[in-house]
Amino acid sequence: MFVSECLDVNRDGHLTIGGCDTVELVRRYGTPLYVMDETQIREHCRAFVQSIKENYDGHGRVLFASKAFCCKEMCRIVESEDMGLDVVSGGELYTALSAGFPADRIYFHGNNKTDLEIETALEAGIARIIVDNFPELETINRIAGTMGKKADIMFRIKPGIDAHTHSFIRTGQIDSKFGVALETGEAMQIVKRALELENVNLCGLHCHIGSQILDVDPFEHAAEVMLKFIADIKTETGFTVRELNLGGGFGIKYLESDNPVAYSEYMNRVARVVKARAQEYGVDLPYILIEPGRSIVGSAGITLYTVGAVKTIPDIRTYVSVDGGMCDNPRYILYSSDYDVLCANKANEPRDFKVTVAGKCCESGDLIQENTPIQRVEHGDILAVLSTGAYNYSMSSNYNRIPRPPVVMVCRGESRVIVKGETFEDLVRNDV
Ligand code: LLP
Repeated sequence: MFVSECLDVNRDGHLTIGGCDTVELVRRYGTPLYVMDETQIREHCRAFVQSIKENYDGHGRVLFASKAFCCKEMCRIVESEDMGLDVVSGGELYTALSAGFPADRIYFHGNNKTDLEIETALEAGIARIIVDNFPELETINRIAGTMGKKADIMFRIKPGIDAHTHSFIRTGQIDSKFGVALETGEAMQIVKRALELENVNLCGLHCHIGSQILDVDPFEHAAEVMLKFIADIKTETGFTVRELNLGGGFGIKYLESDNPVAYSEYMNRVARVVKARAQEYGVDLPYILIEPGRSIVGSAGITLYTVGAVKTIPDIRTYVSVDGGMCDNPRYILYSSDYDVLCANKANEPRDFKVTVAGKCCESGDLIQENTPIQRVEHGDILAVLSTGAYNYSMSSNYNRIPRPPVVMVCRGESRVIVKGETFEDLVRNDV
């Protein structure tokens, strides 16, 4: 009935998440409100961890891509599920470390790391720095040298794969700002350079082909290409690549019509490719890393809003305005993303009202969804936007000086705040 297993409807006809009545949550915490279900998050973590155990003899690790949803409590959950963490900035690294996340399970990405970020990462003793380009390699070698350390690194490779997803979130093709390309010979050159440098220790390769990919073929293809490159490196340099990070990008259900592949299926098929090619090329089986972000948290989260004005423009459309918008969910204005929307306090009523859900920002494009069927709503009703657990809170802004909403975690009928809502005072804190 719903795009996510953690959702249901109770006897009062109210939407529930993780056993909590959304109307009650709104009464207690107000709107807008992000709500995440811990049980669902943990189930997703376990499905990925299990898939490596079952399909690859546990010879690998699942890293949560923290950009999808980064806060201290999420880091603690990931830690307790025995997973690692992918961070892409000093801020994400700081969040992880301040949550007590073990540094030796942190992987640092990004196409333009600052010297300070590199120093902090080396100082903390993180697991790997994923090096994006030549100047960065030289910088890491220099900084590690001055610190008297040897940096454990991987390279971000563009495998030349065009995954069919939105162009803003497609990253495997040659025209991408991320990584070094195979086709141009750049990837082989950077590997050779690393082997000459004193203060770096090349551990492995990484690729990430895009996000919200609903098909396994591109992942299999990426694994093929990367194994071939590992074999080429061995032939040309004699060096054995021990680790292969295949990135994230596994799609989730935003609409009923979306058909994501079971998480176990990805590893099953990808592991088969890795094993077959390793044998064919006579190279050692690499330790595998995967980096799911969206698929861990996306469908575990919803956003609740209060309906304000309902404005019908005859023969054109009806706008339903809510008390949030692009500031807490910029994904529609950025990518025209699909979402399932419903009235949380009338969840059993028919969804026969086609509306455009608009935010409160001073911007015409500030919409959450267009032409979406919801229940007949009026001022004061509560709207729920589903599958907002990934890249909503993490991409939120203070546009129009709107404070960020709190994030509430629910778990088997209980709720707790895991990120406090911002206040107006927070907004002016850094103003001088
Ligand atoms: N690893 C790397 C190196 C990445 O760049 C990403 C996402 C991931 C893992 C996690 O991908 P996921 O499993 O979440 O698809 N803001 C966009 C998504 C950008 C994804 C960026 N990189 C959105 O809201 O759809």
